[in-house]
Amino acid sequence: MSTMRLDKYLAQALRLSRSAARALIRSSQIEVDGQPCRYADASVDAASLIRYQGQRLSAPDAAHGYWMLHKPTGYLSATRDDHQATVLDLLPVSLHARLQVAGRLDKESTGLLLLTTDGAWSHRLRRPGRHSKVYLLQLAEEVSAAMVQAWLQGVELHADGHARALGVECLDQRCVRMTIDEGRYHQVRRMCVAVGNHVLSLHREQVAGICLDPGLAPGQWRALRAEEVASVDA
Ligand code: URA
Repeated sequence: MSTMRLDKYLAQALRLSRSAARALIRSSQIEVDGQPCRYADASVDAASLIRYQGQRLSAPDAAHGYWMLHKPTGYLSATRDDHQATVLDLLPVSLHARLQVAGRLDKESTGLLLLTTDGAWSHRLRRPGRHSKVYLLQLAEEVSAAMVQAWLQGVELHADGHARALGVECLDQRCVRMTIDEGRYHQVRRMCVAVGNHVLSLHREQVAGICLDPGLAPGQWRALRAEEVASVDA
């Protein structure tokens, strides 16, 4: 990215009109390299550290936006619902247009949730067998060697065929890290029920080459970096 005006950068990074970008700048919500900046014509480039509402923005892709959210419990992975809070309620309204959830988490699950305006990218990410997803699970019952073996060999999901884990790491008696490469409805929870166990909490740590940023508290978001976007191959 070559040097460009701050209002153009924001318009592209946040997919706003130029006038909406200028209004944001006037409202003192934009910081450039650690200082509030109120000049629409300030010159910025890929090395500039630009923050909006405290969150770092990545250099803009003129076509699409890509975000990660640390999803807290209690929010639906949907873009609208008439009765319940959705993950979009955690993002500024200026980002909502054309945003879609790239791989849902259940309402009570937490962790890495990806959102994008790029439908093809989202579709590639959700294709079974292409990209791994890593979950940290707290379970109601102690995890036995037989449970781990069953997950790795594949368990029968009620009326939904076979599902298997690519990897299972036991962190303590009731806590495991499980890797799968599909995203069927309630898949991990159902895989646990299938071996006689029960998920108490489920947290997504990673999808493809994208790890949940440890600097994001629940409810916080940031734009994806170019290499994170690129880790979802064609
Ligand atoms: N599997 C589940 O069961 N729930 C999630 O939220 C994600 C994967």
